[in-house]
Amino acid sequence: MGSIQIQGGRPLCGEVSIQGSKNAALPVMAASVLAPGITTLKNCPEISDVACMCELLRHVGAKVYRQENVLTIDATEITDCRLPREYVTRMRSSVVLAGAMLGRCHEISLTFPGGCVIGDRPIDMHIQALKELGAEFTENGDNLSAKAARLKGAVIILPFPSVGATENAVMAAVLAEGTTEIYRCAKEPEITALCDFLNCAGAKITGQGSGHITIEGVERLHGCTYEVEPDRIVAGTYLIGALAAGGRVFLRNAPAGQLGSVCELAGFMGAKIAAEPAGIRVERQGKLRSPGFVETGIYPAFPTDLQSPFLVALCQAETMSCLTERIFNGRLAVVEELNRMGANIRVENNCAAMDGGQKLKGCSVTAKELRGGAALVLAGICAQGMTLVYNRHFIDRGYEDIVRDLKSLGVNIGGKK
Ligand code: UD1
Repeated sequence: MGSIQIQGGRPLCGEVSIQGSKNAALPVMAASVLAPGITTLKNCPEISDVACMCELLRHVGAKVYRQENVLTIDATEITDCRLPREYVTRMRSSVVLAGAMLGRCHEISLTFPGGCVIGDRPIDMHIQALKELGAEFTENGDNLSAKAARLKGAVIILPFPSVGATENAVMAAVLAEGTTEIYRCAKEPEITALCDFLNCAGAKITGQGSGHITIEGVERLHGCTYEVEPDRIVAGTYLIGALAAGGRVFLRNAPAGQLGSVCELAGFMGAKIAAEPAGIRVERQGKLRSPGFVETGIYPAFPTDLQSPFLVALCQAETMSCLTERIFNGRLAVVEELNRMGANIRVENNCAAMDGGQKLKGCSVTAKELRGGAALVLAGICAQGMTLVYNRHFIDRGYEDIVRDLKSLGVNIGGKK
């Protein structure tokens, strides 16, 4: 098992280029099976979740090649509609292949998906949306199969703006007969990216980025070239690192427009944030003011994926703070490890309360999931002494090379995969 070691206690200083977005790349890769041709994805991040999606695509018959950060997917032939358990249970995003495969092959069979251990993650909304488009589901133990002789446009009203359910509904609707309207859909930038990609491949989608998407079914899609946007969560992680540890950094390509809530909070806490066309400049020299209460929410509110990293910054603030997780139950597992580093965070239900001015000290900690793992690395930067973070593979699911990136921000960090 890989690990990361950090000699903490120094501010950040330097520049880093932000990798392509994991949460945009994965659904776009899945959607490539809808286009019987060649899809070229530029700026596709080299992370283990993308490698896992490549394996799933190969398994269903696509040919997938990578040359540096350009991924080529040839989906001319799709030969198998069964997704192998090994990869599906490794990564929750494999479930978005359901909508795409139903659109292309009218059939899909998969195990219930895995992914980060961040509380309950049912897929009832995905199933309901696909049923409304005409899919019929059969459950057998932990295996799920769906068939749709013909997908037909429908009006879908999601009970909650689930990102994955919106993606699945969009993908299944693109080749369906007639028009689909999705209400209360997710507005996250990754939804816009998926719809823009599909339009580039010949789909007719409008309303992406709002709570109401309209999809006019088309006969077929074609291959195209698409550039994956920079990863707002990776950019946010390093921004929060500079906020927590202090210093001056430039986050090249960081999408400031997608990080409004994070920049606003960081600014309130005392950082100088400059959104420039080439990226975000962050400077934090003085004391950190506590924002009092923070809560996560659906886009454009504060992202749940930055909740764990943000706990580290809140521990460094002058006075008490309270952070409430509103999207996932059980996403505060990192608190136990942060407390082992000397933090004093109390959790009740989905709320974490902490005093300010906490002195963290280096020790051995274990990542239990992706973003919590990144938070432990940030805690290591703020801590006095040496921190060793075990289970690096969780972090590698979403960060191309967190050690490389933080080294370029002046952190004394090393690690093995
Ligand atoms: C996606 C992101 C993840 C991010 C999350 C919220 C990817 C690969 N992952 O996850 O990084 O944290 O959006 O921004 O893009 N829910 C149900 N039933 C369903 C589907 C969801 O109850 O069928 C619930 C979930 O348990 C959760 C909430 O809805 O409480 C939000 O989940 P959702 O928006 O679907 O997140 P994901 O697509 O899994």
